[in-house]
Amino acid sequence: MEYKELLQQIDKNKMPKHIAIIMDGNGRWAKKKIKNRLFGHRAGAKAVRQIIECGVELNLEYLTVYAFSSENWNRPAAEIKGLLNLLVEFMNKEIAEINSNNVCVKLVGGEEGLEQGYLDKINKTLSTTWNNTGLQFRIAFNYGGRQDILQAVKKIGVKIQSGEITPEDIDSSLLEANLYTVGMPDPDLLIRTSGELRISNFLIWQVAYAELWFTEKLWPDFTKSDMLDAIVDFQNRNRRYGAL
Ligand code: IPE
Ligand code: IPE
Ligand code: MG
Repeated sequence: MEYKELLQQIDKNKMPKHIAIIMDGNGRWAKKKIKNRLFGHRAGAKAVRQIIECGVELNLEYLTVYAFSSENWNRPAAEIKGLLNLLVEFMNKEIAEINSNNVCVKLVGGEEGLEQGYLDKINKTLSTTWNNTGLQFRIAFNYGGRQDILQAVKKIGVKIQSGEITPEDIDSSLLEANLYTVGMPDPDLLIRTSGELRISNFLIWQVAYAELWFTEKLWPDFTKSDMLDAIVDFQNRNRRYGAL
């Protein structure tokens, strides 16, 4: 179906607040075209642009994309370098457009392994959007769900040790206040491309009750219409949260 037609099927009153996306399949997409993997990642960045645009058009509140996982450090050095550079390049290129759409962009993830100068450079670019009140766009970069929980537990441990809190104070909201995703609602809808049916250490605490939506499409082929397909599907689901 066409984007405009699909748009009419969306129930504006039943929008997911937060959509999270595991953007997978860039490498396979490039391979099919007999190109190198970085060519695939570049094509993937173009799809990200489309998906931000879609989020803006839908007045979506939160959109988080998984761009680099803690485990992606296990890839060849050249690919890692290419991905780090691509993030800078993408932000430099897109920031003006993003800003003009009132989109706020932040990174979500750890700092280990990334040079301070690198992070400073990116955050300087992103900071121009931090007062924007529209779509809250988050890039999970150097992110791992287990690492996220562990660093939260460590921060809580320090607070207990200093006497600021006691173990009895530990509850879901305290843990969530210490996660990288502090202040964000849990994803309602989790999309993964490329036919893989797994979470790959993405937001594992936060997706506890997310609706999952998978597609065989490789990430660079993912379109705004695919995003709407996922939302229409989401709106037809019955979320029970363990109740009746
Ligand atoms: C997703 O595409 C992007 C990242 C993980 C950085 P992949 O690079 O995983 O592509 P495939 O899965 O090898 O096709
Ligand atoms: C998940 O994709 C990470 C990102 C999309 C950034 P991977 O390609 O790294 O996941 P696996 O290895 O197939 O589980
Ligand atoms: Mg992959």
